[in-house]
Amino acid sequence: MVDFYDPNSSANQASLKDLGTPYVESAEHVSLTIDGQEITVPKGTSVMRAAALLNITIPKLCASDNLEAFGSCRLCAVEITGRKGLPASCTTPAEDNMQVSTQNKKIARLRKNIMELYISDHPLDCLTCPSNGDCELQDMAGAVGLREVRYGFDGENHLDAANDESNPYFTFEPSKCIVCSRCVRACEQVQGTFALTVDGRGFDSKISTGLDNNFLSSDCVSCGACVQACPTSTLTENNVIEQGQPEHSVTTTCAYCGVGCSFEAQMKGEEVIRMVPAKDGQANHGHSCVKGRFAFGYATHQDRITSPMIRDSIDQPWQEVSWDEAIAFAAKKLKGIQAQYGKDSIGGITSSRCTNEETYLVQKLVRAAFGNNNTDTCARVCHSPTGYGLKATLGESAGTQTFDSVMQADTIIVIGANPTDAHPVFGSLLKKRLRQGANLIIADPRKIDLGNSCLLYTSPSPRD
Ligand code: SF4
Ligand code: SF4
Ligand code: SF4
Ligand code: FES
Repeated sequence: MVDFYDPNSSANQASLKDLGTPYVESAEHVSLTIDGQEITVPKGTSVMRAAALLNITIPKLCASDNLEAFGSCRLCAVEITGRKGLPASCTTPAEDNMQVSTQNKKIARLRKNIMELYISDHPLDCLTCPSNGDCELQDMAGAVGLREVRYGFDGENHLDAANDESNPYFTFEPSKCIVCSRCVRACEQVQGTFALTVDGRGFDSKISTGLDNNFLSSDCVSCGACVQACPTSTLTENNVIEQGQPEHSVTTTCAYCGVGCSFEAQMKGEEVIRMVPAKDGQANHGHSCVKGRFAFGYATHQDRITSPMIRDSIDQPWQEVSWDEAIAFAAKKLKGIQAQYGKDSIGGITSSRCTNEETYLVQKLVRAAFGNNNTDTCARVCHSPTGYGLKATLGESAGTQTFDSVMQADTIIVIGANPTDAHPVFGSLLKKRLRQGANLIIADPRKIDLGNSCLLYTSPSPRD
C-alpha cells in the first residue's frame, strides 16, 4: 500500500506574505503576548514570525521566510520584558509567557540609526534606480521615518565598487550592497549551489563569487534565487534595468520540464518583463531554474508561429490561414485518407512536451472522431521501464508522490535520471534533503552531478 504524502498539510502551505522566518514543525507549542495580543505557535518559531502571524509587521532587511534567520541587519529589534537590550526578533525563538513590544521610542530610535548608517554608504539615486518602487531598503527607510543622514556622505564608502555585468540575465551592482547575505543564503539553502560567499570582515565585507569574482566564471547556474532574495537593487534582472518595472502580472506554468513550476509573468503591456516563481506554487514554492525564470524570449521571438499555416505538399510554401480554414483543411485531408485507406490508416501521437490536458484531447479526437485507438504519447515510450518498475514495486505505474515527499525520505534512489540538469527545481529540493542527512544511491551508466553527494554509485552497463 502506498502512503500518499499530503501537500495540503499546514507544514506545506505557503503564506503569500513574507512571515520573516521559515515554518518550524514541532509537536510542542508556546504561548506569548506581542503588543498585547496573545498567540500560540510551534516551539522554535521566531518572535518575528509569531508577530507576522498576528499581522504585526516588524521592519526587516536580512530576514525572509524561505531562508534561515541570520540576524545581521538588527532592524527587527524588539523589547522583551525581563531581557536586556533589544534582541533581534528574527533570531529570537518565541517562549512561553514572553511579553514582546515591537514598537516604542527606544526601538524606533535604534531602527532609525541603523537605517541612517546603511543610507550613509548607499548611492542616492533612487529616482533613476531600476528598483525604485520595488526596493525593501527604500521601504524600510520610509517605515522607520528616516529623513536625514547626520554623518554626511563624504566618509569612506563602497560607492565606487565596479559592477559585474558578466551574467547575461542579471547585473550585480555592489555599490548598493548592504551585505545582508540573503543572496548567499538563497544560493546555499534554496538553490544548493554555494556559488556565493561573504569575503572579508567588518567594513571590508563584500559578496564574492570566488577567485575570478564574476558570476559567469563562477559555479553560478543562473537560477536567479539570489536576485529574487536581494532586498536592494544590487542584484537586478537586466530586463528590469532596460525596460523598467512591470505593471501587471499573469499566473502561468513553466512548460520546459515536468516539474511544472508556477510563475507570475510580470508584464508591461504585452511584454514579459520578468518571471517570478510563485511562492504558493505546489511544485516550486517560489524557486525556479534558469529556464523558467530567464528563458522566456521565445514568447515574442520572431520565429514563433502564432497563426495556423497550411500547405498541400512539402514542396509548397506555407500559407497563413484562419483557424476555421486550417481545421476544415485538416479534417478534409484526414477524412480523405480514411476514405481511401480505411479507418485505421490515421492516428495521433503527442509529445512529452504536451500537457496532460492536450494529450487527453488528442486521444479523445482519435477515439471519438477518427474512430480507432491509434493513439500514443512519446512519454509512454521513454518511461516504459519506469512504469514497469513502479507497477511491479508500488502497484502503480505513474508517480505516486508529490515532489515535496522527498523531504520525508531517509534514503533516495535515483535510477537513470539526472534531476539537477533535467528537473532542476526538484534537484534543488533533493539536494536540500541530502544536506539534512538523507542517503543517496545512484544507478546510472553516466556520471551525474549528484554523484558527488551519494553513498553508493552503481554504473550498470547496458547489458546488465
Ligand atoms: S547582493 Fe543583495 S542580497 Fe546580497 S548581500 Fe548585497 S544586498 Fe544583500
Ligand atoms: S543565480 Fe542561482 S546559482 Fe547563481 S549565484 Fe544566484 S542563487 Fe547562486
Ligand atoms: S524546473 Fe525549471 S524548467 Fe522545469 S518547470 Fe521549473 S522552472 Fe521550468
Ligand atoms: S531582520 Fe532580523 S536582524 Fe535583520
